[in-house]
Amino acid sequence: MKNRNSVYLNGEFLPLAEAKISVLDRGFIFGDGVYEVIPCYGRRPFRLAEHLTRLQHSLDAIKLTNPLNAAEWEKLLLQLITRCDAEDQSLYLQITRGTASRDHGFPANTPPTVFAMSNPLKPPAPALLERGASAITLDDIRWRYCHIKAISLLPNVLLRQQALEADADEAILLRDGGATEGAASNLFIVRNGTLITPPKDNRLLPGITRDLVLELAEAANIPCREQGIPEAELRSADEIWLTSSTKEILPVTRLDSAPVGDGVPGPLWQQMHQRYQQYKQHLRDGGETDH
Ligand code: PDD
Repeated sequence: MKNRNSVYLNGEFLPLAEAKISVLDRGFIFGDGVYEVIPCYGRRPFRLAEHLTRLQHSLDAIKLTNPLNAAEWEKLLLQLITRCDAEDQSLYLQITRGTASRDHGFPANTPPTVFAMSNPLKPPAPALLERGASAITLDDIRWRYCHIKAISLLPNVLLRQQALEADADEAILLRDGGATEGAASNLFIVRNGTLITPPKDNRLLPGITRDLVLELAEAANIPCREQGIPEAELRSADEIWLTSSTKEILPVTRLDSAPVGDGVPGPLWQQMHQRYQQYKQHLRDGGETDH
């Protein structure tokens, strides 16, 4: 029988309740660590190589040595997948700079803390996809290293909560007159049949779903551009989408209480959503992740 509570911590698999770390862990004390969220469909990790490459970039950016190589990560994650009952899962992994007496400078000779778990992954509810999500715009109060998938997510947490308290599903963040991304998602707009998303730089997380959407759009000959989205273009967009590993491609039909386009999920979203579902199914059926 599968042990639903099995998680990985520092070299061993153990029940969740037994997975303990020190209160001096630098993840707890400073938020000094990075993480990944990797969806799995039919027990097969989605775009694993891309997620592991992004993990490496995050680790390099915070000057932390990767504790495992790609083959070791894959083995560990596949073991976690077998310990969870669901066919579709969300893998979470986190690496912190380990446990040491509290001091801002990096500790010498301290092994990192490595944690991973897997939970069932549910796609966005059909009712939400039918009516579309609502979003509010908020000032992007985050730091200037948003390309690092850092565990220190306090600004993101505050922004998402502000959206929830305004009865919205997500916050779309504005910085220097342009939209960057959501509190935990990337941003796309459609204008006159062209798909537009901001270019990758330090103002946003290089989303794995974002890259796949661009690839799928290119393969379908949908014109797309990576360019800045001024606030006025966001507000007058025909369609707005948010993308993430757990939200997939979410149509936004209300922005700051005003309808987006016709106020219903748009035709280009319908098309891309279908292609994305086909891509997931292909992976479930045992196909390669390259389309
Ligand atoms: N968040 N931007 C931010 C700030 C995010 O936190 C996320 C994902 C994304 C989308 O990235 P991807 O397509 O690789 O999931 C963009 C994850 C899901 C989370 O924190 O739970």
